[in-house]
Amino acid sequence: MVQIFEETLDQGFFAPQRFEGEIADCEVAGSIPSDMDGVFIRVGGEFYYPPKFPNDAPLHSDGYISKFRFKDGRVSYQGKFVRTPRYQSNLAAGRNQFGLYRNPFTDDDAVKGVNGTVSNTAPMVHAGRLFTLKEDALPIEIDPVTLDTIGFHDFDGGWKSETFTAHPKWDPLTGDMYAFGYEATGLASDDVFFYRVDKHGNVAHEIRIKVPYVSVIHDFALTQEHVIIPFACYYTDMEQLRAGKIHWQWDRTLPSMIGIMRRDGDGSDLRWFRGPERCFMHVFNAQSVGNTVTLLAPFYNGNFFPFFPNIDGSPWDPSRAQGFVRKYTFDLGSRDDSWTEETLFDTPIVDLGKIDHRFMTLPQRIAFTTFADQTKPFDRERAGDTGRAPVNSYARFDLAEGKMTSFFAGDTHSLQEVSFVPRRGSSEEGDGYLIGTASDLAEMRTELVIVDAQGLEEIGRVYLPFRSSTQVHGYWWDAEELGLAEKEAQA
Ligand SMILES: [Fe+2]
Repeated sequence: MVQIFEETLDQGFFAPQRFEGEIADCEVAGSIPSDMDGVFIRVGGEFYYPPKFPNDAPLHSDGYISKFRFKDGRVSYQGKFVRTPRYQSNLAAGRNQFGLYRNPFTDDDAVKGVNGTVSNTAPMVHAGRLFTLKEDALPIEIDPVTLDTIGFHDFDGGWKSETFTAHPKWDPLTGDMYAFGYEATGLASDDVFFYRVDKHGNVAHEIRIKVPYVSVIHDFALTQEHVIIPFACYYTDMEQLRAGKIHWQWDRTLPSMIGIMRRDGDGSDLRWFRGPERCFMHVFNAQSVGNTVTLLAPFYNGNFFPFFPNIDGSPWDPSRAQGFVRKYTFDLGSRDDSWTEETLFDTPIVDLGKIDHRFMTLPQRIAFTTFADQTKPFDRERAGDTGRAPVNSYARFDLAEGKMTSFFAGDTHSLQEVSFVPRRGSSEEGDGYLIGTASDLAEMRTELVIVDAQGLEEIGRVYLPFRSSTQVHGYWWDAEELGLAEKEAQA
């Protein structure tokens, strides 16, 4: 389940290549649906120079953005590093001057005061503009045609937090974006600022809150009425940062916490619920109905990341790093500060889950993610022994029917996160395509698979003649959302 993190450092499929390139018309097997006119944009990372410390987190690799442009049944590819201040400074020095993950006290003196973000987590499109995101800094704007870096973006000064989440949410009824920054007023600060940004890109509403302890708030959930703020057990403070430790330690004695407040309020109604050890990273979706808030999320049992040490000194336990499709229920009408947790399917999954985003905040029944189907073959002779079951399949969960169906990518393949593409002209939930990259570990090349999102049959496959940089998150946008036709004509 941790394949993308283990293989990013210095060997295997994700060994650094310092490679940027483009292909005007990619090799395709099968067919490319003619209604796919848009872009699949991936953001991930690669250490351009090796990490300064061998125990650094793979999450600290240099941001890399890649784009598959679909048009007229053909696909082109581009990939480029994000020109962060860190990338530029390191390139000038010819080595990595930055220390442990999000700990500037471990950086070289020569780069004190230089923004060390790697902007390697997710792409974002809002108000017709493209950005790369990392939760420790502001968005970085990217030219959607050339993938050239434009620079940090603070929404014309309206965004006051020093940071911006990698997981903004959109209300499909209004087009407004909801997002937040944690450690909003500086390193290890307990400030979290929430914002509504209208569909034109203007900050329209701000809520400032404090958290009970400083933890990863990697994702959040949005309903038509509320925002839901989950975090658990990861911990940081200035003392441990000054002591030269990596940004997060796992403290299982801390309560898992989920905050709920009105999304249009002032934060005074914020209510914290508490529960036992879990690892809260990503969510699928959420709804508010009366006093009941439900959250669908692929949460893990315990510490997911082996490179963020347990604060009690115990070794990382892979058996706790298992995620499942789970439903959390909160009763805002009760004084009880606990929640109800239901595990809806007993299949362990990767927590990089997706829904049909047109149903975000709304009643929804279909969820997608990847998982390791251990009933399927794996050709160790050709692919090499990875020491664990590869993430080889997409899963489609129908929550109404309690039914799971799957797609198997191949016996030498490891899949990255799946993304959903709505079929043009259809408003039915889950009607469209699933796309995502597969690492062919035998051929040492990246393939983009295109699968029917309802029947889970393969439609086409795009072949790159090289290993594309690893992906953390990727999304699809129709050409109109980025004004691509006009921008490409001008380029
Ligand atoms: Fe994420």
